[in-house]
Order: sequence, then structure tokens, then C-alpha cells
Amino acid sequence: MTSSSRRVPIEPQAVDAPLSGTAVFLVLTVSDAVGAVDTVRSTLASVADVLKNVAFRDLDAALSCTVGIGARVWGELTRGPLPSELHVFPTVVGDRHTAPSTPGDVLLHIRAARRDLCFEFERQLLDLFGDAVEVVDETVGFRSFDVRDLLGFVDGTANPVGQDLPDATLVGDEDPAFAGGSYVVVQKYTHPLDRWRALTTEQQEAIIGRTKAENIELDDAESGQKSHKTLSTIVVDGTEHDILRDNMPFGSPAHGEFGTYFIGYARRLWVIERMLQRMFIGDPPGLHDRLLDFSTAETGSVFFAPSAAFLEAMGDDPDPAAPDAPTTVPTTATTPATPTAPADGSLGLGSLRPADERTTS
Ligand code: HEM
Repeated sequence: MTSSSRRVPIEPQAVDAPLSGTAVFLVLTVSDAVGAVDTVRSTLASVADVLKNVAFRDLDAALSCTVGIGARVWGELTRGPLPSELHVFPTVVGDRHTAPSTPGDVLLHIRAARRDLCFEFERQLLDLFGDAVEVVDETVGFRSFDVRDLLGFVDGTANPVGQDLPDATLVGDEDPAFAGGSYVVVQKYTHPLDRWRALTTEQQEAIIGRTKAENIELDDAESGQKSHKTLSTIVVDGTEHDILRDNMPFGSPAHGEFGTYFIGYARRLWVIERMLQRMFIGDPPGLHDRLLDFSTAETGSVFFAPSAAFLEAMGDDPDPAAPDAPTTVPTTATTPATPTAPADGSLGLGSLRPADERTTS
């Protein structure tokens, strides 16, 4: 079937968009310009139209965009309460390595088979934003060989498939106002490749937890140092909690820059945060993920990607009867070295929300 005979496969906010040959990870903050919030709100509500406009020029390239909104501006932009777990990325401090918390109000995860479509879509959108936003970071990722990261390992194999995918990524009845949306965590990592390459293949495989050439899983260590694969596996009461990753290599050989852009989508934010705690603090504490000795987290931000319908409705006129619920939260937060999640599986984020909202959702 040719693209011209197909219906338009353009779905905004499709967390499960196909793995793409190229991607742009654009992190923005809302500026202090007069009317900035209104401009950002109307631009976000029109993302679906801009997407259709550009994607239609080559349907085979499957242009997609997922918009995420951060906790700092959520209230002002959406005029409503926060999704139950949404908060600013908490800095994770381990003995040797730290996952920093960096600014980010809006995330655009733009994916396509063709770089020009990503470029054009980003250009049109930034035109609409104008001076209402400031670009904090723009990272252009590329697909490397058979879905390998720049450390040489196939990255993404354990992602959920079939029904497990929406189950792991999309909020459901537990937070009905935000059903169909997804928490998103991004971190930009850089690698000292020369030091990584100085390791033997066996040493690298022990760090990752899979063989390099054939991508076969190694057994979990019974005790002592655990691999990246084991530390990032979250099992609670016998249930494994998955997330969806669409990491991408980025960099510039000319500038000696080599990196992995980590992006994780999850139905429950605490799952990704527990992965980070196990990686940076270690399990047991002190035995951190050895991947971090070769991967430095330069950024860290949390967003919530609402459903397409929610995003589009942000362009509607405000309901004069609705309570005005702008929410201001600190730009950074730090977790203690040994954070614990409450028994209900949440991170106890009620304290970041206005008192009158805590009992209502
Ligand atoms: C420098 C950054 C990173 C690199 C290069 C990297 C690379 C990899 C590789 C090669 C695998 C094994 C194959 C696979 O299943 O995908 C893997 C697995 C995984 N990684 Fe990472 N990763 C990075 C950061 C992270 C972070 C920050 C998280 C979560 C917060 C994470 C979560 C996972 C999970 C959940 C798995 C699958 C574990 C399983 O087998 O069930 N990774 N990663």
C-alpha cells in the first residue's frame, strides 16, 4: 500500500510512536514575556494541526510529536490541578554520582524517519512560540546501527509490547482526569568513550547485563554488584513494573561529544524514580550502577504528556465558573540519600499541591 492510498497515520501524543531514524528532544522554559503563558497555551493546543501540516508531506516518514508539561507551569498552562504524581525532578544523590535536576517547563519529543520533517516541524512550532519560551536544550538524536547506543549495546530490547505497552505507559482509572496521559522523564548523558573502550567486552557486558554481539541477557547477580539491567528492573510484591524507553545516541565526533539521550514514559512516575535511586544510590546502597562511571547525567526533568484531547482542549476559553488553580512549585528538589516511597506506591506528592486539591482527586 502506498502512502497516498493510506489514511493519515498522524496521532498527536502517541507515546508508542514507532522507533524513528531521527528525533529532536527540545526542552523549553516559559519566559517572562508579557502574555507568554497564553501564547504557550494556544501553541500547545495547536500542535496537532502543525503536526498534520508537516507530517502529511511524507506519510511514510511517520512524523510524531509528544508534548510534555512540567510541574512548575502545569497549573498556569492548564488552569487545573496537577496529575497526582507530577512534580519537579528530584535530584538523586549517590556516594559517587548525582542525577541533577535541571529546568524544563515544556518537552517536545519529535520523531520521524526523516530529519527534514523534524526540523520543519520544530521550526514552525518555535515560530508560533516566539519569545514566549526560552530553549534550555535541543538535542538531535540519531538511530545507530541495529538500535545500539554509542556504548555499542542494543538499547530498548526489554521495552513492553502488545497490551503491556499501554498498561505500562498510560494513566488509567487511578487518576481519571489524566487518563490516557503519561509521565515522561528525560536525562541527557555524556560518555567518555575512550575509557569505556579501554574495558574488555566481558567487563562491558557485566556492567550492562547483556552480551554485546548477540544481546543475550546474562543471569542476575545473586549478591554484590548488580548490572544495569538488574538495577533498572523494578519488582514490587511479585509484579514487575515496566516503562517505555526511546533512548537515542547523539553527539559530534568533531567536538569529542558522545551521548545517550534517555527518555522514559511511564504510567507511574515512581517506577522511573525508583530505577534512578537504584542506579545512583545502589542496591545495596553504595553499589551504584557501574554504567554511571562511564555515563554522566547532565540534565534531568520530569513532564506529564497529557492525552491529545486534553492538549487540544487547552486552547478553549477558560470556564469562568472553574476555580483558578495556578500552581507554583520549586524549580528543583532533592531526595534524601535513602528515599522511600509510601506503601501506596506513590511518592507522597500531595505536599506539592495546594491543600484544597489534595483531597479531591
Ligand atoms: C547512559 C544512559 C543509559 C544507557 C546507555 C542505557 C542502556 C541500556 C541497555 C543497553 C539496556 C539493555 C537492553 C534493553 O533492555 O534495553 C538497558 C536496559 C534498561 N534500562 Fe537503560 N540505559 C541508560 C539509562 C537508563 C536509565 C536512566 C533508566 C531508568 C531510569 C534505564 C532503564 C532501563 C530499563 C528499565 C532497562 C530494561 C531492564 C530489563 O531488562 O528489564 N536506563 N539500558
